Amino acid sequence: MCGVVGYIGKNNAVPVLLSGLSKLEYRGYDSAGIAVYNNGEINICKTRGRIDDLRNKLLSAPISGNLGIGHTRWATHGVPSDENAHPHFNQDSKIAVVHNGIIENYLVIKEELEAKGYKFLSETDTESVAHLLDFYYEKEGMDILDAVFKVIERIEGSYALGIICSDFPDQLIAVRKDSPLVVGLGKGENFIASDMPAILNYTRDTYLIDDNEVVVLKTDSVTVLDSNKNEVKKEVFRVDWDVEAAEKSGYDHFMLKEIYEQPKVVKENLSRRFKEDGTGVQLDSIALGKKELENINRIYICACGTAYYAGLIGKYLIERIARIPVNSEVASEFRYKDPLIDEHTLMVVVSQSGETADTLAAMRLAKSKGARVLGIVNAIGSSIAREADDVLYTLAGPEIAVASTKAFTAQVVAMYLLTIHIAQELGVLDTEKFKELKSDMEKLPSLVNEILTKAPRIKRFMHKYINSKNVFYIGRGLDYVVSQEGSLKLKEIAYLHSEPYAAGELKHGPIALIEESTLVIGVVTQEELFEKTVSNLVEVKARGARILAIAMEGNKEIEKVADDVFYIPRTHWMLAPLLANIPQQLFAYYVALGLGNDVDKPRNLAKSVTVE
Ligand code: F6R
Repeated sequence: MCGVVGYIGKNNAVPVLLSGLSKLEYRGYDSAGIAVYNNGEINICKTRGRIDDLRNKLLSAPISGNLGIGHTRWATHGVPSDENAHPHFNQDSKIAVVHNGIIENYLVIKEELEAKGYKFLSETDTESVAHLLDFYYEKEGMDILDAVFKVIERIEGSYALGIICSDFPDQLIAVRKDSPLVVGLGKGENFIASDMPAILNYTRDTYLIDDNEVVVLKTDSVTVLDSNKNEVKKEVFRVDWDVEAAEKSGYDHFMLKEIYEQPKVVKENLSRRFKEDGTGVQLDSIALGKKELENINRIYICACGTAYYAGLIGKYLIERIARIPVNSEVASEFRYKDPLIDEHTLMVVVSQSGETADTLAAMRLAKSKGARVLGIVNAIGSSIAREADDVLYTLAGPEIAVASTKAFTAQVVAMYLLTIHIAQELGVLDTEKFKELKSDMEKLPSLVNEILTKAPRIKRFMHKYINSKNVFYIGRGLDYVVSQEGSLKLKEIAYLHSEPYAAGELKHGPIALIEESTLVIGVVTQEELFEKTVSNLVEVKARGARILAIAMEGNKEIEKVADDVFYIPRTHWMLAPLLANIPQQLFAYYVALGLGNDVDKPRNLAKSVTVE
């Protein structure tokens, strides 16, 4: 849940580290710091707060040098404070460490080191790494690299570490296990980072570091070692995103930019996946043909948060169209419930970052029990992408805002494509039906655009409903899934209490909470369930609720019950969730903005949840 960066080269490391950290701020933003080597010593500047606070602190106490590491933190062990901010020093300030992840056995190590006289200045797990390194390097007299190897033998948990030592001003050491780490390969300079956007201004050539690898970066070389200290020959991975993809490009917020990128994202996903002869879909090089699918009798779709809701849409569609039983599971629950998995199981994991700890663990569990794993992933080269048997990339480009928008939409498109693929391979979707669906899908980018042009209308809803204290989102079937995603978005960025309910469940309890002026957002795009949900809306209306409905164009009946209606353009029932979610994204965005919240970096959250 943190971001690490590092630089070694001929230039001043400080601006490189600050620029990298600002691109990683989405990973955590409660404190930040850098350590830079200069003239025989390492200087650290760190502070509670954001990268701008760090910049300000550096203005009054500037540091510089050609070697450095940096960190942006999302607190796990110890409150956000100057002391707990990274980097952390060893005893005599010769070694500085930044860390993303969790050292699970840090208390044991801390106790052991305290017994040897080590003094800890922070409450973090990371400081134990700095002192343990000190112990092996200073006290046991090991070479610094051997000390690093010794430390990783001792520590348990997840970590991407950046380490510098003033006795070795010509090298930066990095280590990875279960936390993302890339190396950027420059000319006369090299970089480390938790994610690509941090280094894209400097280089597009990267090494994707694997678990248990140790990297030694010098100005002119990068050496990657495996856990036996043997050199690993890495392939250069060239990143082909635009640098602007990770910039705001004139939008007020990344979230707004990402909402507006959705037509392009949908188009990109579809144009690459429809076969040229118009008869079906091609899912990259996924080896899930008729033979493999006939061997499968159970599908799990596992993910967290927004990605879980995309997976839930997949469950509804695969069951209804391809007629295979699908369990859609929250990864943090799935991994501890001793699930029924064998070699006849297809495990689909959905993740924007490809690094979510629970999703990764669920995937590994399924794999270890013989399941075939399909990763639906946005971040290229991420852990899930690398470990899954097959990968379907969601081609949304970097998503920077913490609240997921375009990645969700791309995941939903992936669910459409996967459903079609499975149904076609199993012979339950004929070419004529496919062609109708394809033609409807190809209209999606312009339909999303059409919705976006109506953003001012949603802004007006915001003014009317911004003072709501409790919000209910209700719907049935796919509309219920959309409701869940809408409610999550409102919670996470507007900090409004909201609950999604299957409309039919209201009268089994939650309707007791409806009172004068409670806002109920009714999602009623599934025409076969329209009347049922409208009845539920009538029930809440009778109890004083105000109703904002999201309906399909033409279903004007809804106006009799709703205070306001947002119509999405007419489309195939299966495609309606993608469209119905767009006004929800805009509504959450405007409400958050209206309440003065930090839309891109909501409180208590981080983009990439690489800890349990
Ligand atoms: C919500 C949101 C989160 C993520 C979840 C999974 O807007 O972004 O709920 O969807 O943390 O993250 P990934 O997709 O990276 O596995």
